[in-house]
Amino acid sequence: MNNHTKTIFTALLLPSLMIFFFVPVAAAANVERGQKIYRFKCAKCHGSAGKGDGPMAKLLKPPPANFSAAGFFDSRPDAALKKSILKAKAPMPSFQAELDSGRLKESDIDAIIDYIKTFAEPSK
Ligand code: HEC
Repeated sequence: MNNHTKTIFTALLLPSLMIFFFVPVAAAANVERGQKIYRFKCAKCHGSAGKGDGPMAKLLKPPPANFSAAGFFDSRPDAALKKSILKAKAPMPSFQAELDSGRLKESDIDAIIDYIKTFAEPSK
């Protein structure tokens, strides 16, 4: 390999390696952040494993969504999930106010979405 090829190689390889190493780390951090918020704000209804069986679930009609139900996320792309969280159907509280008041950030909502998707049953 001559020097020129080496330079090109490094110029291409380094950024791709960085993407490989940093993107998963960033995604994991996002999921972790989502988990923290979920435990505070969602688990009491949706349950700590997302099965819709939190301590408040029995009091609610309709019951909280079970995120591990087969195909749950197939019919709900991220944008739909976001809408369901911000402008929820009763008896779920809407979280738009938390966004407006700055208690939650846009990126927090995205992190929660990343986290609840970890409850999805792996498709067989
Ligand atoms: C007070 C209980 C309660 C809390 C707290 C709560 N939810 Fe819900 N959630 C529900 C109930 C009940 C439903 C079902 C509503 C319906 O289908 O009419 C639901 C439905 C959903 C749905 C599915 C909507 C759809 O597309 O069918 C999503 C997604 C969701 N909740 C996410 C969340 C997230 C994320 C949080 C925390 C930020 C949260 N919920 C907090 C009770 C709650």
